Amino acid sequence: MTAPDLPDQAEVDATIKIVHDHADRIFLWKYDREREQLVTLYNKAMSSQWNSVTELDWSTEVDPEELIDKNTPLMQLTRAAREVDGSPLANWGEKELTALGIESFKAQLSQFMHGEQGAMMTAAKIVETVPWIDAKYYASTQTMDEARHTEVFAKYLHTKLGEAYPMSPFLEAQITALLEDSRWDIAYLGMQIVIESLALAAFGTMLRNTEEPLLRKLLRYVMSDEARHVAFGVLSLAEYYQDMSEAELKDRQEFLIENTLRQRLRSTTPEIWERMGTDPEAVYPAIMEAAGKIKVYPYAGFQRGFFAKLVPNVRKLGLLDANDGYLRRHWGEAGLLEFEFADDTGSDYETYDAVAADRAAATAAAS
Ligand SMILES: [Fe+2]
Ligand SMILES: [Fe+2]
Repeated sequence: MTAPDLPDQAEVDATIKIVHDHADRIFLWKYDREREQLVTLYNKAMSSQWNSVTELDWSTEVDPEELIDKNTPLMQLTRAAREVDGSPLANWGEKELTALGIESFKAQLSQFMHGEQGAMMTAAKIVETVPWIDAKYYASTQTMDEARHTEVFAKYLHTKLGEAYPMSPFLEAQITALLEDSRWDIAYLGMQIVIESLALAAFGTMLRNTEEPLLRKLLRYVMSDEARHVAFGVLSLAEYYQDMSEAELKDRQEFLIENTLRQRLRSTTPEIWERMGTDPEAVYPAIMEAAGKIKVYPYAGFQRGFFAKLVPNVRKLGLLDANDGYLRRHWGEAGLLEFEFADDTGSDYETYDAVAADRAAATAAAS
């Protein structure tokens, strides 16, 4: 019998990524349930777990062409870039535009999938590092939620759309930094407060723009979990930051400035152009020129949706006003304070609860 061929190092490197975490793992000997709101949230999480195999109808036929929105900023720009002198897209017609729309949709769902895996690992890190038993219990339920999210996005891509795209370097760097950090609260601040607010806004935008029933239900169910995750972050960090020194709070304020103002919220995926058989470097100048000529109608709803969730939660953590309003000043200059009292995702997770709503409706229909 011959031994199976071992994969060479390059093959291994292409399929995994190693991250070194610098945080301490903490074992607790005190099992008292002291944090009532976290106990409530944990109990809610247990009863809201849904089954990705039996509660979603995977036999639904999906036509990728029906999924796409022909008026995304990318589509508007690409259409206009065809007219630019010497454009490599000059001979593109509706067929190519539709194909681009499908690739772009796949790229976006791929980022959701990779981001969910990052959330699963971040939640698992919180299980290991947070020094409160109620938070460890809750983060364990979140880890399971994120496993389900990763799995359903992967399954949707694989069974309905085709090959996924790699994780964008920007998202990868953002999540890797959270997994490496020695401070346990930074995992929360980066994931539950920033990325999950972003995810709720992105899923909400996709939900508003699609009629496809399987994807709609999947997104509603994922969002009902995400709303709890954001609430978990707000509850935990509001307590922890109460007793933190101004110098330490300044680091957290800097982190938020870094992760909101100094970053691009979405990064482009050059692989989309490669799959379309076009060199991204050749396309970008035409796109840039088109961007200077036409008025692009952006997804204003997406950006606003993100800040409407983020800013009120950061206020609840006391981070707007610490250090003489350091963050308030920065976000104020960027026009973000109009969102200070917008959505209340820190506590209104019940309103996102599509799972409970569907189950109640099914019970009512049966009786
Ligand atoms: Fe998730
Ligand atoms: Fe989440």
